[in-house]
Amino acid sequence: MTELGKHELLEEVIEQFGSPVNIHHLPSFGSNIKSFENELEKRELKHKILFARKANKCQGFVVESHKLNQGVDTASYNELKECIALGVDPSQLVVTAAIKEERLLRLAIQNEILLILDNEDEFIQVQKIANELHTDARIGIRVSGFTHEDQKLYSRFGFDIEIVESFICNNLTSNKYSALSYEGLHFHLNGYSISQRGVALNACVALADRLKEKGYTTHFIDIGGGFLVNYLESQQEWEAFDEQLRKAVKGERDEITHGNNGLGYELLEGELIGRLNTYPYYNEVNKSNFMAQVLDYKAEGEKSNAQLLREKGIEIRMEPGRSLLDQIGMTVARVAFRKQDSKGDWLVGLEMNMTQMRSSSTDFLLDPDVIFKEKPATNDEVEVYFTGAYCLEQDILLKRKLSLSKLPDIGDFVMFINTAGYMMHFYESEAHLFDLATNVFYEKTGDRPALVDFARDAHVQQLV
Ligand SMILES: Cc1ncc(COP(=O)(O)O)c(C=O)c1O
Repeated sequence: MTELGKHELLEEVIEQFGSPVNIHHLPSFGSNIKSFENELEKRELKHKILFARKANKCQGFVVESHKLNQGVDTASYNELKECIALGVDPSQLVVTAAIKEERLLRLAIQNEILLILDNEDEFIQVQKIANELHTDARIGIRVSGFTHEDQKLYSRFGFDIEIVESFICNNLTSNKYSALSYEGLHFHLNGYSISQRGVALNACVALADRLKEKGYTTHFIDIGGGFLVNYLESQQEWEAFDEQLRKAVKGERDEITHGNNGLGYELLEGELIGRLNTYPYYNEVNKSNFMAQVLDYKAEGEKSNAQLLREKGIEIRMEPGRSLLDQIGMTVARVAFRKQDSKGDWLVGLEMNMTQMRSSSTDFLLDPDVIFKEKPATNDEVEVYFTGAYCLEQDILLKRKLSLSKLPDIGDFVMFINTAGYMMHFYESEAHLFDLATNVFYEKTGDRPALVDFARDAHVQQLV
């Protein structure tokens, strides 16, 4: 995608689709899926990869997952409805929504789509709707509360591992839930620990064994998502940033973030407290390698999770979102103005707002590329903050001060790299009645990238 960094081309793209524009590359999404599949095939595991589409709303990824014979994890009525309309086979879909309103449950049950249930109220509603529809409902059960290094892992989701077995045995064969057909277990853990996931998977295999003795067959265990992505080139760069940020917050050097924002660090009575509250952007073990280590995890004196799953014939499922979107998307915005604030800092205003590039991470720690129309001369270096269109002081697009080879001109473009996972859509809003960004897919057809190589997401679906 770096081949897209030409001012004339981006001018045409923004002219056609508006600013900002989210540009995606489907073949790279396919390569990410393939790398997960390779690890699963190496271990001869029956498997299903369900792309967690909450990480990016484009329909193109649903179509591509379908083409690659993998599935989609849906988190809302609209996500599910769109997948069905796009022609995805119901057996390739799962509903893991945190809140499952009646129309979502009804749609899933009518289409024989697997529902991952979180609590007994959901059991009650599914039974009621299935009865009304004179059919059965396919269900999996979300489990949580695993013990890792003598600590119970808290989660607001799922049934506690200590009570789920008796809940299943006391309820599933009774008339109360006669329309529910149990197929498997599910978990999704907060955070990014391989060993916590290893322990949780191991505990689910053991639970599946105990359930089997009681007559319940577990066909799959779904380990959710949360596979780390590596966004940075070097560990040294990552550590140096952390060190300089701490120094800046302590007042030992000039600020490196807007308003000396500590991104989680604070100074309390002269003492530095807190911790860096961002995504861990540098990760040597990432994506399919991270998943492989969860599969290869061995509880003391036991076989690996992969061996156990293989021997027991249990399908492993997962719902990667961010990791399947690594290196497949970027956000490009046009420069609207430059000015110096009252402290003398340069602010570069972009035609976009803070919700169009935002995740739960306190800041996005990747440097953007600026695509200049006029090439910089030597010694034009400048430090800037990029600001957005909302009427809020805090609409600073990246909190870090960035060093550029020159001050951008009005009409230059800023390319924010690797934004497809969560950054583009998760928090986007239409405040001030701004249009939402257009989502396009790029695939080179000729010798050089051209405007015809870009298609709106809504057009990509016609590939089905
Ligand atoms: C149930 C469930 N599955 C999958 C995911 C995807 O996680 P990630 O994008 O980190 O892989 C999430 C994310 O919140 C989730 O809640």
